[in-house]
Amino acid sequence: MADSADPTGFPLQDNATHDATEHYERYSAPIMAPFVTAAVEATDLFPGAQVLDLACGTGFVARAAAAQVGPTGHVAAADLLEAMLTTAARHAPRMYPDIEFTQAPADKLPYPDDSFDAVVCQQGVQFFPDLEAALTEAARVTRPGGRFTATAWTPPADRNPYMAAHLKTLTEQGIPEAMARFATSLSCPADRLTTALTTAGFHDITTREITFAIAFPDLTDFITGHLRAVPWGQSLEQAGGPAGFTEAARTIREALAPYTAPDGSATLPFTTTLATATNRPTTR
Ligand SMILES: C[S@@+](CC[C@H](N)C(=O)[O-])C[C@H]1O[C@@H](n2cnc3c(N)ncnc32)[C@H](O)[C@@H]1O
Repeated sequence: MADSADPTGFPLQDNATHDATEHYERYSAPIMAPFVTAAVEATDLFPGAQVLDLACGTGFVARAAAAQVGPTGHVAAADLLEAMLTTAARHAPRMYPDIEFTQAPADKLPYPDDSFDAVVCQQGVQFFPDLEAALTEAARVTRPGGRFTATAWTPPADRNPYMAAHLKTLTEQGIPEAMARFATSLSCPADRLTTALTTAGFHDITTREITFAIAFPDLTDFITGHLRAVPWGQSLEQAGGPAGFTEAARTIREALAPYTAPDGSATLPFTTTLATATNRPTTR
């Protein structure tokens, strides 16, 4: 889980050898796409809505939301990591109303009370060092009766074969920092999210699991690219160098052999928890 002294449990940074957040944008896209659609649909956005993409990363939700709210709406997007926001801005389309990207921690957002009709947090809640504080802040910036939606990978790792393959490899390599960073990504089960949403003052809380089968035309390329786009992959590379990284990619691929076709393509199921909630009905 995120260390309470560390403001992000997802410390991905561009580095000298590659542009990690561009890798995130490219290689996370196929995994995230159907879940982004599900999260935005569950939020009941409407033309003219004011929306916040919380822990926006490179902006998958912000872009999808901008298309829904149209020219009379507004999308803000906040993330702690500057590198994510730089890449997000690079990929922001010009055909929608401008998305307003802001660097901010989830528990200290630079928006006035009641700013948004909806807040969407896709694969972010598990990385907040203080989930209750972050959701209380989300409630503060959401108008009374506004909507909150979050997704988080459903633990344990064996619910998702791709993640189980990462866990197996990380366990074999035995690098504590890499294992801790990976564990954080699976650290928010539905009951934890429900409790934190309740503490934050949300009501009508629902959680459900959603599964999508995702097709990878070239699994080897995907594994290598995606491992460069996650903090535990960066830890593996720092500890084991290029040889350790290559070995990790090889063992992940090997663990996924049962899902892989002779041409190198694969289809893997991914399961996430989708939580929805409504903000308190009246202004504080
Ligand atoms: C797995 S990424 C998800 C990004 C994006 N929502 C998506 O769907 O691809 C997790 C994101 O949470 C952000 N994050 C982690 N801790 C944060 C915090 N305390 N406040 C704001 N953002 C945070 C990271 O910088 C990262 O961009």
